[in-house]
Amino acid sequence: MSLLITNIGELTTNDPELGLLRDAAIVVGERVEWVGPASAAPAADERLDVRGAAVLPGFVDSHSHLVFAGDRAPEFAARMAGEPYTGGGIRTTVAATRAATDDELRANVARLVGEALRQGTTTIEIKSGYGLSTPDEARSVRIAREFTDEVTFLGAHVKPADTPDGYVDLVTGPMLDACAPYAGWVDVFCERGAFDVEESRRVLKAGIAAGLRPRIHANQLTMGGGVQLAVELDCASADHCTHLSEADVDALANSNTVATLLPGAEFSTRAPWPDARRLLAAGVTVALASDCNPGSSYTSSMPFCIALAVRDMKMTPTEAVWAATAGGARALRRPDLGHLAPGASADLIVLDAPSHLHLAYRPGVPLISSVARKGTLQSLCVAEGHLLNASGPHHPESPHKGVLS
Ligand code: NIG
Ligand code: FE
Repeated sequence: MSLLITNIGELTTNDPELGLLRDAAIVVGERVEWVGPASAAPAADERLDVRGAAVLPGFVDSHSHLVFAGDRAPEFAARMAGEPYTGGGIRTTVAATRAATDDELRANVARLVGEALRQGTTTIEIKSGYGLSTPDEARSVRIAREFTDEVTFLGAHVKPADTPDGYVDLVTGPMLDACAPYAGWVDVFCERGAFDVEESRRVLKAGIAAGLRPRIHANQLTMGGGVQLAVELDCASADHCTHLSEADVDALANSNTVATLLPGAEFSTRAPWPDARRLLAAGVTVALASDCNPGSSYTSSMPFCIALAVRDMKMTPTEAVWAATAGGARALRRPDLGHLAPGASADLIVLDAPSHLHLAYRPGVPLISSVARKGTLQSLCVAEGHLLNASGPHHPESPHKGVLS
């Protein structure tokens, strides 16, 4: 099946040669087959006229913690009234998660993945980290794997209150063995009060030895050694990067490690904004992700993160959209994602707006009118659960702005 999307007012390709196209069309199967002027578009099996709307790559959300139960709304309210964020609330979510059934956890992930999809996310990374015991971490990665190919083992989120001693031995031993078959990535919260640099190095090296690739929560609350460790171990991404020294920025600039900024966390913890301009000026590759979790950032909305990055982190709208698409793809080392050139995965979104600028210009407005994954238009009905690694038939009945004929 091929689908022609035509009368595109503005097509963001994120391709250095194709650039930003006006009056464009795109033909997709599972992959992008053709991109060019609408007037020269070839025929396809199906045709979607988007009547001047903007089309861009689907968002690649490279950092989320969706396998949990309960919420921490009172903790959020207390923070808004002046309490600091310390990460201590993670243990509240661990207790609720351990008490939940598999089906309750699964339903919560489905709800959040559906939310994300309706807001334009076509790829999402999901971490474990609220189980903190071998069986609870293993079921977390197993459930995450039902929803996405990008699963991260975060047994080293914090040390659980019940077994703080020897916890690194557990994470790097039996817990890793139980989780590695379901995960592609290993992560650690390298922070004062969580895991120090030496413990974090052990966790990531054990993961690497088990065939996982490393990423890291680094420099969120303090200027610790997480970013330097990220570069030392060639982590795909150092996430948060809220407190960086000059040496940290230099190290990132001379590495293959992406700096993934999570403005939802700064918003929800009233923390200082990461200095995106400093990173971009140094030549660091910057990604934006949601960090969706019940404590520090309970948003699944990449458009909201783009708006924050533009308004408060002083990224241009074009930089922020790139960071939320191509940047996320680099943070997951997925060259097939985040751009719309022939050969790329046909993951794209249609906006109810003429330009990508509207994502920041119209904050809080549901602008995503259609979403395609691997060339298949997705049903955006609220009631439906969504599996981001499932591919189904086209949904000609789905509610999108354009006309499918
Ligand atoms: O990325 N920093 C560590 N982990 C999460 C927060 C988890 C929580 O507070 O529940 C984060 O912000
Ligand atoms: Fe996180």
